[in-house]
Amino acid sequence: MVDVFDLVIFGGGGDLSRRKLLPALFAGFVAGRVSADSRIYLTSRSGLEGSVHDWLKEVFDESQPACDVSKDHLKTFSSMVSMVELGLTKGGDDWESLKASLAGDDDRPLVHFLAIPPGLFTSTCELLGQYGLNSKRARVVLEKPLGHDLASAQAINDDVGRAFGEDQTFRIDHYLGKEAVQNLLALRFSNILFEELWSGRTIDHIQITIAEDQGVQGRAGFYEGTGAMRDMVQNHLLQLLCLVAMEPPARLDADSIRDEKLKVLKSLKPLSGAEIDRNVVRAQYQSGAMHGSAVGSYADDLELEQPSSTETFVALKAHIENWRWAGVPFYLRTGKRLPDRFAEIVIQFKPVPHAPHPNWGSNLSPNRFIIRLQPEDHLALRMMVKNHSAKSEALKEVEMNLDVTGDDVIRLGPYLRLILDAARGDQSLFVHRDEVEHAWRWVDRIIEHWESSDEPPESYQAGTWGPYEAHDLMTRDRREWFHETSGRKVAK
Ligand code: BG6
Repeated sequence: MVDVFDLVIFGGGGDLSRRKLLPALFAGFVAGRVSADSRIYLTSRSGLEGSVHDWLKEVFDESQPACDVSKDHLKTFSSMVSMVELGLTKGGDDWESLKASLAGDDDRPLVHFLAIPPGLFTSTCELLGQYGLNSKRARVVLEKPLGHDLASAQAINDDVGRAFGEDQTFRIDHYLGKEAVQNLLALRFSNILFEELWSGRTIDHIQITIAEDQGVQGRAGFYEGTGAMRDMVQNHLLQLLCLVAMEPPARLDADSIRDEKLKVLKSLKPLSGAEIDRNVVRAQYQSGAMHGSAVGSYADDLELEQPSSTETFVALKAHIENWRWAGVPFYLRTGKRLPDRFAEIVIQFKPVPHAPHPNWGSNLSPNRFIIRLQPEDHLALRMMVKNHSAKSEALKEVEMNLDVTGDDVIRLGPYLRLILDAARGDQSLFVHRDEVEHAWRWVDRIIEHWESSDEPPESYQAGTWGPYEAHDLMTRDRREWFHETSGRKVAK
């Protein structure tokens, strides 16, 4: 299907637009998913320098799209893109001319993508309303994090809600656009095999890790004062937890999925005081070595003059208080400057209740179902089989790999999928305001506890798997992070 739409990217010259949105749109255009009749407006408060063609060429040299950038494609794509200088706090001639450019076709979807700091969402939506750019054909896409706590998220939701209905509001969490996440839903709800096993009766615990080897260079304005809890846990990690833990929805439509995810967020056991100290680890990276080269600390990367208590690493243990998950810990973990970049959900099953052969006991590993979201989409089931090469009745662990290679939209990445969904008005992969607010409610208690304490975050050396405390979170429950047992290469 080829989509035709008008797209306005607010913050068109910013980091998200340059690194993710424009490369995704270009690749979508080359793959024939985005029609050359679509129009893309890049707004910026200061205006963009030079011709669209040259500017885009530079952008694609830096952030390479998932396709070749041929001269012809670049020329046609450049003709679809306009640059617009636009203030976001008060109206004026610039808004009149944007309105005039967007006039014409009332049937084609109009998507406003707010790739700007959340502090500008309110005034931008007010102006969109004032200039009549919020009609039925219009949708607004809000990039995360939505606010920095519950109160600010509620205020933004209320303000956006004055210009756009909830059915026009698309809160993006690009993890929901990843193919392996889609597959998780398909796998859970189209196979009785998994559903029957999917509970505390057979599952021992669940680990969800989003590890990044990158630091925070170039994101000083955003990261300092945001930190990993707001940047990754409040949204990506809790959304993944919801998809793993939710009950089967009656239908796979937006409302049914969002209702089930919301129930999970409402069932998360709130943490407070000493429970936070015991079950939530926060840390900041110090200088170290990555892939054989020396790298600086968080403070070096942001050129900070004062010590900062912003965390770049979080590991925590959460519980969901319902029948299915009572007693099953969910270990969540994310960090910058870890040895490797990957995102992975590990469902670890309980050990067999009895080993019927004396040689088995020592080398029985529990079954694990692994859903890898990146760098590649990959499903694997780890189980025990007889070790043919051994003389005795020894066992060995094998991994059954499932090929989940998909079509081209998949290879083109989550942002294209989500922009196309927004243009089509499909909200299934977007987050409802209630979900955002419940996630903040849970996370706020932890952040407030940290803010009220004099304790600085723990430290970890860049290129390691976080501080000792993250390891201890598992070992004191007699468990281990999966990479510690899986043979994944671990930098020391
Ligand atoms: C973004 C965060 O939402 O997700 C970044 O703001 C993070 O800090 C990024 O690096 C990770 O996304 P991905 O898809 O590269 O894992």
